[in-house]
Amino acid sequence: MQRFGLVRELVDPDVHARTVGRFREARIALPTFAQLTDPGLIPRGVREALAGIDPDAAHPLNLFRIHWFNDHRRTGLAAVPQHIVLPPSLTGVESPIVVALGDRFPLIRAHKVLAAYGCLAPQLATGRFDPTRQRAIWPSTGNYCRGGVAISRLMGCRGVAVLPEGMSRERFEWLEAWVTDRSDIVRTPGSESNVKEIYDECARLSADPDNVVFNQFSEFANHLIHYYATGAALERVFRAMADMNPRLRLCAFTAATGSAGTIAAGDYLKERFGSKVVAVEALECPTMLYNGFGEHHIQGIGDRHVPLIHNIMNVDLVVAVSDRATDRLDLLFNTAEGLAYLARRRGVDTSLLEALSSLGLSSLCNVLAAIKAAKYFGCGPDDAVVAVATDGAAMYTSERALTLAEYFPRGFDEVAAGEVFGEHILGATTDHLLEPTLIERERIFNLGYFTWVEQQGVSVDDFCARKKPEFWTAMREIVPVWDGMIDELNARTGVLDQL
Ligand SMILES: Cc1ncc(COP(=O)(O)O)c(C=O)c1O
Repeated sequence: MQRFGLVRELVDPDVHARTVGRFREARIALPTFAQLTDPGLIPRGVREALAGIDPDAAHPLNLFRIHWFNDHRRTGLAAVPQHIVLPPSLTGVESPIVVALGDRFPLIRAHKVLAAYGCLAPQLATGRFDPTRQRAIWPSTGNYCRGGVAISRLMGCRGVAVLPEGMSRERFEWLEAWVTDRSDIVRTPGSESNVKEIYDECARLSADPDNVVFNQFSEFANHLIHYYATGAALERVFRAMADMNPRLRLCAFTAATGSAGTIAAGDYLKERFGSKVVAVEALECPTMLYNGFGEHHIQGIGDRHVPLIHNIMNVDLVVAVSDRATDRLDLLFNTAEGLAYLARRRGVDTSLLEALSSLGLSSLCNVLAAIKAAKYFGCGPDDAVVAVATDGAAMYTSERALTLAEYFPRGFDEVAAGEVFGEHILGATTDHLLEPTLIERERIFNLGYFTWVEQQGVSVDDFCARKKPEFWTAMREIVPVWDGMIDELNARTGVLDQL
């Protein structure tokens, strides 16, 4: 497991000592994986101190808000993670589509800050990253680099965002406000699907030993934090719903894969509820489905490769969703005309209409995949399909004008809203969908060879080890070890004792 970055010993005591010094001076404490999974375990003193802190401020205590249990104001704790339940009037299927809301996360209003923290914390606790001297490099096609830059700043170290130049203006504006030096935003050629170019830039940057790359596509900590924190959060949501309807079953979890961190929650849910794991990708770049390639607009789901941390052999269904659908639904859910149509013609509740702005493009993709999966599995009113909204529509305001110009140059009215609803929701079918056989899973698994063995130098043995279920279950033993080391780091700084 060492070979996979799953290090359980103190690697460099000097680095660790410098980290303790920095954290003591800057009053930084780290939450454990267990606390981010169950925030009820966060010490009372921290929770009380947090009450007066803006969730988007660069305050180190906000690290304790990197979980799914923030309430709607994002200042206090909710008993059940914030979520919406999409009814048949909005989805055209009988089964409830349940969506946990990622825009309740602090700092970046998106769930990727959880993955960034999950990748950085173990490296700090084991003395592998020196926040006083090294730069943290965050390669990303979406929000991960924003999460990485945010937590780097909270820890007083330099964070560098590496992302394609074609990502949304809102992302770049956010980054410009958060980096300490403009050169810490590195733009790579292309857009969403150009992950190879990001890898190339990281290889260049890592020639300097003071740059440490946190590669979300191969950091198993990304898988682990989602397995526990996202998995348990969705379990809590489902159990709260099942308390009201004891007949409710958890049918499936859908996740559009970028790094394939989030989809680890599907493994967690499958082990507890027997639910299906549904991996989703853009139809314009159908890598898992057709070994395909191409460009698309569903920001955050970078592709044309299979991440090292994707447990492909546990995938039950692969679904492709077109960016034509996600772009146009973004218009439907975020314009007065679209909302008026949904209220008047579909009878959708006002409170739900207001919540639709919590669905960014990849969230809409997850919802459409949930509708397709519900149709494919023949789900009824007692079969819930669960998904996450990774970020909200606010990240895509500038993109909306482009969608309008492309699809509705004469304006978006209620007739157009009806066309969009009819085509993409009522017209969603079970096309571009695969329930893979063993051979088909192996075909997708083997695609990863070209990235990881040929390009990135992973050994064939290590690559193949990931085919066995035991590989994924065995790695979980490391989480309590990391938590113990995080507790020890906090004990040495004494920061928590002063709260
Ligand atoms: C907006 C958005 N959606 C979806 C994803 C995919 O999540 P994951 O990387 O956990 O597969 C990302 C990842 O960056 C994202 O930023």
